[in-house]
This record gives sequence, C-alpha cells and structure tokens, in this order.
Amino acid sequence: MLNFQTSLDRDGFVKIPSFVSSSFVSLLQHSVDIAIETRCSPFFRDLSDDQDGSFLSDIWSSFFVSKFPVDYIPDQVPFLISTLMRCPSVILLQDTWFRRTSSCTVSIPWHHDQSIEGPFFSVWISLTDIPFGSSLRFVRGSHKTGLRYLPSSFFQTDSSNDEVNAMESFYREFHYSDSPDYQRHFVPIPPDLETNDCYDIVSVPTSSGDIIVFNGLTLHSLPSNNVDTCGFVLRWISVDSVVSPYSNDVQIASKFLNVSLNAGHPVNDNFFRKYDF
Ligand SMILES: [Fe+2]
Repeated sequence: MLNFQTSLDRDGFVKIPSFVSSSFVSLLQHSVDIAIETRCSPFFRDLSDDQDGSFLSDIWSSFFVSKFPVDYIPDQVPFLISTLMRCPSVILLQDTWFRRTSSCTVSIPWHHDQSIEGPFFSVWISLTDIPFGSSLRFVRGSHKTGLRYLPSSFFQTDSSNDEVNAMESFYREFHYSDSPDYQRHFVPIPPDLETNDCYDIVSVPTSSGDIIVFNGLTLHSLPSNNVDTCGFVLRWISVDSVVSPYSNDVQIASKFLNVSLNAGHPVNDNFFRKYDF
C-alpha cells in the first residue's frame, strides 16, 4: 500500500493490477448493456460524431437505471480511497462509464476531473483490456501545479459561433462559462502539451480488472486507437471537500438528482454515500 501511495503522491496516478474480479467486470459490462438499452438517464450521452453509438457514456446509471446492481462499488474500493486520501471519511461523488467501439475516432481530450475544491480522487476500473497507445494517458506530476486546466477554445471569446463536436459540447455543458471569474480561475491546456518534453506523458495500459487511481487535478486523456474500450469510473471526495463555485456540475446535479449542493460548502446531502473508517 505504501508503494501505491508514494506513486500516487509523486505522479498523480497509480495503477493497481487485478483489483476487481472477473465476475465484477462481467456484472458491470452487463449493467452498461442495460443502461444503453434503456437510455433512461438524463446524463446519457452519445459522444461520437460520425458513427452514432460508437462512443457512449452515462453518469449516475446506478441511480437512474433500475436494473443496475446494488453492489456496483467493489468492496475494497472505499477503504482503499480512505487510505490513499488519508481521510477517515470519504464520499462517493459520482459514478460514470464510457464505452467506445474500435471504429470510433473520437478521443477524450486532455482535461482534469476536479469539479470540487479539496481532496478528489477518480478510480478508473478497466472493464476491457486496453493496450499501450489506446489506454489512459497522464501528464506525470501535473496535479502538483495546482492549476485548473480547461480546453484552450474556452478562452477564445470569438469561438462562440464555431461548431463544436459532441465531446467538446459535453465538456462545455459541465465546465464552460464566459464569466471573468471563470477565466481567472482556469488556465488553457498548453498547446504544446504533446510536443514539449517538459510534459512527461505516460500511457498506462490496463487489463480487464485493473484499476487506476488518480488525483482529480492530474491532466489525462483517452486517445482513440482501434480497440473496444470500456471503463467504469468512481469519483471520491473527502468530508472536507467543498462544492466549487466554478463548475456547472452543481446546477446540473441539483436539477437531475434533486439534491442540495451549495458552492463553498461540503457535500453533505444524504444522497451521496459516506464511508467511515
Ligand atoms: Fe476524466
């Protein structure tokens, strides 16, 4: 465990091989099938541009999909997060999944997950084998900058009339505002991120059942590369983490989940599961 913590603190991410069972993987794959068949969640998204259905995603399927399994949180994960976060009490903020077919050319662009101020960890559970080159990529150590990155197009005031693809539209929905406060709080993704050697980009291949734990501030992306990909993500915060005033997540979650969330205050609505150790 100490090695995992050291890697996570140093790099902003750590892979833990064979963390969940094959039966859990099968259960979740089947559950994603059901979520796709029913499409009953208001968060359900088709992120593909030219091939309908080749890149699908949902948030809170566990809440909106009636046949989603009650045991969608692997037993060991809450304690693992409590330990790695060094917090005796942790809260599950969100579950989400991504499924992309091998023919899809849409990538998940560089971004961070931090929609909360304070401790925030994501757990990517690999539901398929994802080889080097197709797997999640991280900018090693980028969590230490403390910077909140957003796509550079968010900072171009003349881009409002430009056509945006489904993926960028998705991110805009949750993270975009032209308010000066937003523009001051965030910084653009560096344009030379993939060409400048000062950014240490690491591709982390996974086998089905592996997990990757990463800091919400660590820059990451998922390139497209001719392989079927499915991942289930659980996002965790501490009891001291507070709702960010710089995210549209609050308004969206409050509306669809009927929960009480207030900027600058902890997430203490009973909707969100808390684990004490
Ligand atoms: Fe992400």
